[in-house]
Order: sequence, then C-alpha cells, then structure tokens
Amino acid sequence: MLKTPLCDLFGIEVPIILAPMGTCTSAELAAAVSNAGGLGGIGSLFRTSAAIKRDIDVVKKLTNRHFAINHIPQTLDADAFRCTLEARPAVISFALGDPGDLVRQAHDVGSLVMLQVTTVAQATQAAERGVDVIIAQGGEAGGYCGEVSTMALVPQVVDAVSPIPVVAAGGIFDGRGIAAALMLGASGVNLGTRFIATKEAPAPDTWKQAIVEAQSEDAIKADVLNDISPLPGTAGFGTVLRSLHTDFLDEWTAKRDEARRERDRLRNEIVSTTQAGRPDATLLTAGQTAGGIKDIPQVAEIMRRLVAETEAALRKAADLSVAV
Ligand SMILES: Cc1cc2nc3c(=O)[nH]c(=O)nc-3n(C[C@H](O)[C@H](O)[C@H](O)COP(=O)(O)O)c2cc1C
Repeated sequence: MLKTPLCDLFGIEVPIILAPMGTCTSAELAAAVSNAGGLGGIGSLFRTSAAIKRDIDVVKKLTNRHFAINHIPQTLDADAFRCTLEARPAVISFALGDPGDLVRQAHDVGSLVMLQVTTVAQATQAAERGVDVIIAQGGEAGGYCGEVSTMALVPQVVDAVSPIPVVAAGGIFDGRGIAAALMLGASGVNLGTRFIATKEAPAPDTWKQAIVEAQSEDAIKADVLNDISPLPGTAGFGTVLRSLHTDFLDEWTAKRDEARRERDRLRNEIVSTTQAGRPDATLLTAGQTAGGIKDIPQVAEIMRRLVAETEAALRKAADLSVAV
C-alpha cells in the first residue's frame, strides 16, 4: 500500500493531491479525489465568493473525507477567506505569494497550512512562517509557475525545510513520476493537468481534448499574460502562466507593447471566452505533462492507476538495488 507520513498528517489514504485549480475547480471534482483516497482541493483564484461558498457547502455533502481550500494571498477575497475559516477544512493551502498572518488565522481554526513555492528561498521563508507542508512546484507545471525544474527543486527544498513534509508538483502524470518524486524526498504529489483530463473535471471538452492531443512542447510560458494581467503572476512569487498554444497567445506574444496598452480589453476577452466555455479562444492552461496524457477517464480510474503504477515502479527500484 502506497503510504507516506503525509497520509497520517492529512488523514488521507494515498499521498496524491488534486491541485486546487481556480479555473477548473468544483466540489464534485474535489469530492471524487477525496473519495478515492487522495486530498481533493477547491480553488478560489478568479472566482466569486458565492461560487466558493457553494463548493464548500456541496463538497461536505459529497464526501465525509478531508479536502483543502486554496487562496492566493495577493488577490485574497476577504469574504471567501472568512467562509473558508468557518468551514474549518483539514487543509487551507496558499500559492503565488507570502501568506503572512493568514497562516496564523488558519491555524487558529484548526486547519493545517500548505504553501506552494517555486524557489528554495520561498520555501525557507514558508518554514519561518510556520506552514505545515510545502509544495515545491517545478517550472514544468501547468498554471502559474517559476523557472526551476521539479527534479532540481524538490531535493533542495527537502534539504532546506526538513523535517517539514514536501510535496512535489509539476511534470508528474503517472506512477513513475510519483515514485521519482518520492525518491527525491517528497512525501506526496500535487497534480493538476492530469485531473483536468478526467470525466468529472468541470472543463469544456475542447480543453480536455487539447490536453490529450498536445505535445509537451506545446505547453508554453505565456509571458504576455503578465502584460495583460500582472496579478497574480508578476506580483507575489513572480510567476508566468503555462498554457497550450492558442491563436490569441501567439498573436499577442508577437506584440507585447500593444498588449500592455490594450490590457483591459484583452482581459475582458479572456474572461468572456472562459465564461462562454471557449478557453481555446484565449487560454488553455496546462503543464508539460499534457504530452503524456492520452485519455479522459474517471477520477477513480486515474487514482487506481496512479497508485498501482507507483507501487510497481517502487518495486522495480528495489529490485535494481538488489541486483548490484
Ligand atoms: C488550470 C490550472 C489552474 C491552476 N490554478 C491554481 C490555483 O488556483 N491555485 C494553486 O495553488 N495552483 C494552481 N495551479 C497549479 C497547481 O497547483 C500545480 O502546481 C500544477 O498543476 C502542477 O503541474 P501539472 O499541471 O503538470 O500537474 C493550477 C494549475 C492548472 C493546470
């Protein structure tokens, strides 16, 4: 059975976390992951507090297992955060910036705190803030990400913050990746793109299909998005969104000065196409993992597969050390 100290800390069966993706989140997806033994997560980035409140109410009806609620310090919606504190989830997670006093507020209601970082310096600061778990997110990741790869970042963060448990994110789409993350010293993994391509994910089919058809090199860093919308990318942890190519990104990447001048119009275009269920017209957020994702199964099937593949990879690794 695949089990690490993170399982006991979070009260979960397997150390697999659903990334709380602000633009692809629902109570139903979170509950599906939690019910399959992992840690489901609800995202809040770019969402109304009413939508977040609805998810908090619904997820509690769909699962009696633990889940996380995610907030971005730089864009914090005070009302949504108050609802999160009232819900007292097992885990409150943060990303893209220093959570400062939010850590204490989360601890005061009995929640554990997890922060996603992209550098060793951010991880060290997080440890000083008193967070319980640190996600080391490599630059391969979908969503807003940094420069350093998962392979280089995870062991350095593990060394810098030990004994705080570290979770690896970015570049992981199957059990071999999970086994590798555990070998680097991680206690668990945080997966985003793999879970977008599932039946339960609240994403339009065009987005799911684009992931299945993409090569890893199609997942580019969309610097122009920070010209259009500096928050949360440029602010906070200085990250850039990773998305699959779209005509919109290709066009405006070629004329970034103009994009800065037209930022309000372009931001509205992103919001309206996303709300209309046409993300392919502007942004198809995904990580380099897209190249390895070939199907759109149910969450339970993905979870079963990830666990079986990880166990097989770990057994194979043990055999290697016996052979030498
Ligand atoms: C569509 C999308 C939206 C994301 N939104 C958030 C978010 O709101 N909060 C957060 O902490 N991480 C977010 N992430 C990043 C994930 O937490 C995670 O680090 C990343 O998905 C890992 O890389 P992978 O997608 O290759 O698995 C997002 C990722 C994706 C793909």
